[in-house]
Amino acid sequence: RGTQTINENNHLVIGGVDTTELAKKYGTPLYVYDVADIRKRSLAFKEAFRPYPVAFKVAYASKAFSSVAMVQLAEELGLALDVVSGGELYTALVAGYDPKNIHFHGNNKSEDELLLAIDKKIGAIIVDNFIELQMVKTLAEARNQTVCIMLRMTPGVEAHTHEYIMTGQEDSKFGFDLMNGEVKEAIKYALNAPSLKLTGVHSHIGSQIFEAEGFTHAVKRIVEHMAAWKDELGFEPEILNIGGGFGISYTKKDQPISISAFIGSIVETIMAECSANQLEVPEIWIEPGRSIVGEAGTTLYSVGTHKSIPNIRKYISVDGGMSDNLRPALYQAEYEALLANRASDASEEQVAIAGKCCESGDILIQDIALPTAQAGDILAVFCTGAYGYSMANNYNRLPRPAVVFVEEGQEQLVIKRETYEDLLQYDLAFQTTVK
Ligand code: LLP
Repeated sequence: RGTQTINENNHLVIGGVDTTELAKKYGTPLYVYDVADIRKRSLAFKEAFRPYPVAFKVAYASKAFSSVAMVQLAEELGLALDVVSGGELYTALVAGYDPKNIHFHGNNKSEDELLLAIDKKIGAIIVDNFIELQMVKTLAEARNQTVCIMLRMTPGVEAHTHEYIMTGQEDSKFGFDLMNGEVKEAIKYALNAPSLKLTGVHSHIGSQIFEAEGFTHAVKRIVEHMAAWKDELGFEPEILNIGGGFGISYTKKDQPISISAFIGSIVETIMAECSANQLEVPEIWIEPGRSIVGEAGTTLYSVGTHKSIPNIRKYISVDGGMSDNLRPALYQAEYEALLANRASDASEEQVAIAGKCCESGDILIQDIALPTAQAGDILAVFCTGAYGYSMANNYNRLPRPAVVFVEEGQEQLVIKRETYEDLLQYDLAFQTTVK
């Protein structure tokens, strides 16, 4: 994957850097990001639009991996930024990211979060529901400001993915329902509010999607409604944001279509449907997260103990687990791995990779063929760049790992490893009331 190679010492190399050296220098678990791969994918999204006479914007969905350095890299790559909380917004602002290119999602934004967004004059607030619509209007009026908004809609399309990460279906906590007229009501409300500038509409049908069909289906429904909004309300969205969700290949089983095939189908469908309905083609926005950073990330672990249960299974334990990668426990997600210090050695046994958390479900990989792993070997688990660090937690009071970026033989630490002191920084002593 990416720039991965194996060097003369039989070690896994990423971005020209020996991963066993990284493990030694920074400790494990360690997230390693192949920056060249992030560049390549960001460029691939933009290149995919170029054949078409349309305006477009590629935003990085920072929920996949948000950090100051990552946001700065996104800005260098000319990506707009999608944030979903005050914390992600604050990260972007501290990173020096241009607020005009930030848009803010979420089904329950607080007044404080909205105020931060409005005060910093971010590019767009993607309004999710009527309560928020009213709240943004009131806050904008109180500040004598015009706020750009878009409306999030659920188009009633089911993406074929894990049910926890489907979002476009009717029974979803997100957005205004497209099919029952809610969106139209929201448009009317926004058009009547001088403090709100309604620039467009948004839909995100789900995540880790392998085919264009769900997107094109959603687009057809949306454009039909656009024609009705034009006739009935005189409203034509300047922007159509079709969200993220482009799948990646965690294992050989996952075979998503290419980025250019996704974008090609989506853009061609939008153009054809708009033309059939005599509508101007709106500016097209997308918000990939996983497909920008997912395959670029690799987690390095140190192998510790093992346990063999005759005729059943052998468990190899590593020094991280569901605390740095929740996805196997939460979605039965599958990963591939190898021993980074013996990268091309032949496999000798089938094992399960167990995390160190006190929970039977903390199994990172159920079944994988590896050379016989010994304590001190470095296990590299691939494709952990999206929703790995961002969903990491301190379960069992495990400190969160460090993150390094590698590129062209250089490495840089971009997030420090948490220490035990960090874990206790908010703890206060108990004051007994017993005399
Ligand atoms: N835009 C919106 C409105 C979203 O809700 C999401 C993801 C994205 C864009 C980016 O989707 P992506 O391109 O990364 O698939 N924790 C789960 C994924 C949750 C996705 C939530 N929304 C996982 O680890 O698979």
